[in-house]
Amino acid sequence: MPERNRRLVLAQRPTGNVEEETIRLEHVDAPEPGAGEALVHTRYLSIDPTIRTWMDDVQGYLPPIGLGEVIRSTAVAEVVRSNSERYSVGDLVFGLTGWQDYALAGEREGAMQLLPPGIDPTAALSVFGTTGMTAYFGLLDVGRIKEGDTVVVSGAAGATGSTVGQIARIKGAARVVGIAGSDEKCAWLTDELGFDSAVNYKTDDVGARLREACPEGIDLYFDNVGGELLDICLAQLALRGRVVLCGAIATYNARGKIEGPRNYRNLIPRRGRMEGFIILDYLGRFPEGQAEMASWVADGRVKFATHLVDGLEQAPAALNLLFTGGNKGKVIVRVE
Ligand SMILES: NC(=O)c1ccc[n+]([C@@H]2O[C@H](COP(=O)([O-])OP(=O)(O)OC[C@H]3O[C@@H](n4cnc5c(N)ncnc54)[C@H](OP(=O)(O)O)[C@@H]3O)[C@@H](O)[C@H]2O)c1
Repeated sequence: MPERNRRLVLAQRPTGNVEEETIRLEHVDAPEPGAGEALVHTRYLSIDPTIRTWMDDVQGYLPPIGLGEVIRSTAVAEVVRSNSERYSVGDLVFGLTGWQDYALAGEREGAMQLLPPGIDPTAALSVFGTTGMTAYFGLLDVGRIKEGDTVVVSGAAGATGSTVGQIARIKGAARVVGIAGSDEKCAWLTDELGFDSAVNYKTDDVGARLREACPEGIDLYFDNVGGELLDICLAQLALRGRVVLCGAIATYNARGKIEGPRNYRNLIPRRGRMEGFIILDYLGRFPEGQAEMASWVADGRVKFATHLVDGLEQAPAALNLLFTGGNKGKVIVRVE
């Protein structure tokens, strides 16, 4: 008898927030693994803002999720049956399972990565996964951080931003300033993660607070948010300042046309640079980033928080947390 599979599919494209009618729960038979394939049981889902962008009918760096298709998502899963020499029953793997209980792992197309024994699956999805590597390569490779830089990061109490600030500190930034959405998050950044200061964008005058915190301007702005905060930071760029376009979460739920930055012209007198990137381009270099990250986590210089949500069916609500700021650190769904 095949296992029964709960799966969450895209029922309707959202026009703003993900609502109840966006996602449909289905109960179907789990797929049968063919030759060279394994059946894996999803244990932990990585909840990423980009999932929301895949729900739009827009060609991005991956094709949109089709109507009726399982919501695309990376996860840690456990091998439960195997017709492949690559996977043994009980192995933990990392890959694109989607929001469902069971998926197939192949050997080439659909191959999943084996997790090293002993690694905590939630850490594999956060600091050692695409989130941590986005912070690492975004800051080092795209942002080309230098000792003495004044670094500002938005979405600073989120999974990526909190890691960016701590790496900036390790790499010798003169000042690290976070922008986040509550006083409690700001206190976490300064009291526990070593940020020099933090600005609550919901209650503070962000421009004025950044001018105080960065009197010589911003050398490196790591942008997770886009919108108004990008404009404010562009206006305060230092000479040869760099803007890393990592994400634009303020715009992912937007209806209609998205406004561009009004202050981009300041890049000209400041001889500045603004560059986007997609972490998938760095997959081949993950071992290098993961090794350095492992040493920082081991000696306590990089701390990470996990916001765990229980139950596959809670995945849409968990995704919405990223947009309401209901999370501190990495959002992960534990699938029962
Ligand atoms: N380029 C890449 O390859 C790549 C890879 C991974 C992630 N990303 C991007 O990195 C960013 C962070 O992703 P993550 O997974 O680490 O999520 P996250 O930061 O853990 O969660 C998102 C955070 O964004 C903040 N936020 C939401 N709406 C906002 C708004 N309108 N204005 C200001 N802040 C807002 C919320 O915190 P507050 O309480 O502070 O509002 C929320 O906690 C996203 O933009 C994502 O798309 C890019």
